[in-house]
This record gives sequence, C-alpha cells and structure tokens, in this order.
Amino acid sequence: MQLNTIQEADLQNKTVLCRVDFNVPVKDGVVTDPTRIIAALPTINYILSQKGAKLVIMSHFGRPKGQKDPEFSMKPVAAKFQELLGKKVILASDVIGPEVEKQVKALKSGEVLLLENVRFYPGEEKNDPEFAKQLAAFGDVYVNDAFGTAHRAHASTEGVAHYLPSYAGFLIEKEIKFMAPLLENPEHPFAAIIGGSKVSSKITVLESLAKRCDIIVIGGGMAYTFLKAEGHEIGKSLLEADFIDTAKSFLAAAKSKGVKVVLPVDHICAKEFAETAAPITVDSIDIPSDLIGMDIGPKTVAEIKDAIKDAKSIVWNGPVGVFEFNAFANGTLEVAKAVADCKGTTVVGGGDSVAAVNKFHLASKIDHVSTGGGASLEFLEGKELPGIKALEKK
Ligand code: 3PG
Repeated sequence: MQLNTIQEADLQNKTVLCRVDFNVPVKDGVVTDPTRIIAALPTINYILSQKGAKLVIMSHFGRPKGQKDPEFSMKPVAAKFQELLGKKVILASDVIGPEVEKQVKALKSGEVLLLENVRFYPGEEKNDPEFAKQLAAFGDVYVNDAFGTAHRAHASTEGVAHYLPSYAGFLIEKEIKFMAPLLENPEHPFAAIIGGSKVSSKITVLESLAKRCDIIVIGGGMAYTFLKAEGHEIGKSLLEADFIDTAKSFLAAAKSKGVKVVLPVDHICAKEFAETAAPITVDSIDIPSDLIGMDIGPKTVAEIKDAIKDAKSIVWNGPVGVFEFNAFANGTLEVAKAVADCKGTTVVGGGDSVAAVNKFHLASKIDHVSTGGGASLEFLEGKELPGIKALEKK
C-alpha cells in the first residue's frame, strides 16, 4: 500500500484542511486521556512549520447523531488541544456555513481554527458529497491523520479526498508502518493475544489472525464461550450461546492449521459481577456453578508467558479480565508486562487494552500503541479502511 504522504505535499502559503481523531474521553468538561490529541501533534506542528500555512482542523467527538447537541461540542477538546499545542486555537462557531467561511477567510498565516463537531451534520456520516464539498472548500490541501476513524467512510474522512489533493499525516503513516507487517509479512513466531467480552465482535479478527499467527491466546469474557465449546463448565460466566458452534469451528480450524491456541486453565472468579466482590481462585478449567469468571488465574498467566516469550511479533487487542476492578486486574497486568518484556515487535490496539497499558504505565515499553479501536481491529481483520484507501497513490 503506497500512500501520498505529508512530506510530498506543498503546504507553503496554503490553507490546510486536516482531519484528526480527537474523539477523546471527557469527564465533567475535562479531557481525561489526551493520547489521541498528543498523537496528532507531529502532523499539526509540521503543517504549522510550513511558511505561510494556515490550518483548519476537523474532528468528530462522540455520536451526536447529526444534531447540534451542546453535550458533544468540541469545547473541552479545544481547550486541551490549545494547552498541548501551546498556541491559540480558535474554536469555530459551527462546522459549515457563512460564519465559519468568514472565520476561515480571516485566518492568518500560522493560525489554527478547529471546526465544531463534524457529526453535528447528518451529511458527515452519510458521506454526502455536498457536505464533503462544503468542507473541502475550506482548504487548498487535505491531510488526514485520523487513523482512529479511518474505518468510517464519512465526508471528512473519505468524501473530502475526492475534491482536494490528499495526503496521509505522520500518525497514519506510523500506524500503517507497524500494523501492515502484521497483515502482510509478520516475523515468526507471531503471537496474538485477543481478549474482550464478546466472541461476536472478535471472531472475524481471530479467523483472520489464524491464517498468519503461530500462537493465539484467547482471554477475557469471550474465553468462556470457547471453554464451553470444549465441553467445560463455566458457572455463571459470560456466555454467547449462539456462538458456541462458531467457537468450536474456530478451534478445530486453528488446530488443523497447527496454530497453538491458549485458553484459560484456571480462573479468578466472583459470586457477583461487582467491583467490591471478593476474588475467589478456581484452580481448574471448570468453574463451579455459582461463580462468575472475572480474570485468568496464575497458571494461565504462566502458560501465556511461556507461549509468547520467544515471539518475534505480538499483537494484543482486548483485556483478559475485568481489569477496571482492581481485584480482577492482575491477569491483564501480567499480560501487559509479558508483552512489554517481549523482545519482538509489540503492537497494542483497541481502546480497552490501550487503557490497560496506560493504567499500568507500560505504554513506553510497547513498540506501538495504536490510537485505533475499531479501526485497528478492522485493519487486522484485513478489511480495507476507506479513510486510508482515499490516500493511496493512484
Ligand atoms: C473511535 O473512538 O473508535 C473512533 O473515534 C470512531 O468513533 P465511532 O465508533 O463513533 O465512529
């Protein structure tokens, strides 16, 4: 995949329309995790370093469903962005319209205008060409650095690219640099650790990875459906009964390909799904009928560490337990440490596993922490991401 890259663009004296993914967590009007804003700064600073360049930035924030909902205003994001950028960020009064046109026209060299939430207009998610044209009219050049939203064919991620010379920013380049080899030519042994609660949302990525991986570790809530498929008792643990057959077929197919699948062999359980619940160690694969599996046990941790210790590439997506509850965070912490200690190339993607790596202060020991949740998953599934496709060299 060959992309038009920002270094190839002539940005001097241009108004650059840049799409970023500033869909960040906000609590009580304050950004609680600015990772995605920080990740876009190299591109933004590069654009601003170009003589005479002016910058119009667009992003979505949450899911306001095509309505102007003040709850989803870019205001808190603009404040954090301004603080991190260290220079004034003008928040536009709207996304499109005469007022915004004036604000764009009034921009001086080196100034930054952040448009309101692009999802305030239904044309964004519909990828309406008229809406895309209105956005495109704000710039001479389009730079997309929103890897986290690259799986959406929306007006600001895909539509705009039909009307302006379009380039990938540094973040998109970096994401592809680390993720593409995992799809195309991973270094072996290649291990994938896939967790999370649902088989239904991870089965496609598991099937895709089974074609390339040597080792697949399955953890988290979805592991219990796989254990059930193998005939084990799972007590009151999470079960997707409709996916038992899918899980069976996956395990059989992986076995026939010679992929080593690691499933939990012991558990940390609880009587109820609650933060205050007392952890109960179950030293067997089978879980007593009154208990809920909440985390992997110490034997499973040891098996995972042994299975991945010599991996030359590792991808991890999804926690292996309810790590948000301290009593059930140990399995995910140990997996995070094992990934961090691995000498091979390590990539972590997906909102929850990234949150786990950050919670345990291990992000700096991972080669690449993806800013994509759904986007990194779809990339690993081998799906084409429309936001990236639009930047490909013709
Ligand atoms: C994300 O947070 O995964 C991206 O910003 C995409 O958001 P969306 O799932 O609302 O499209």
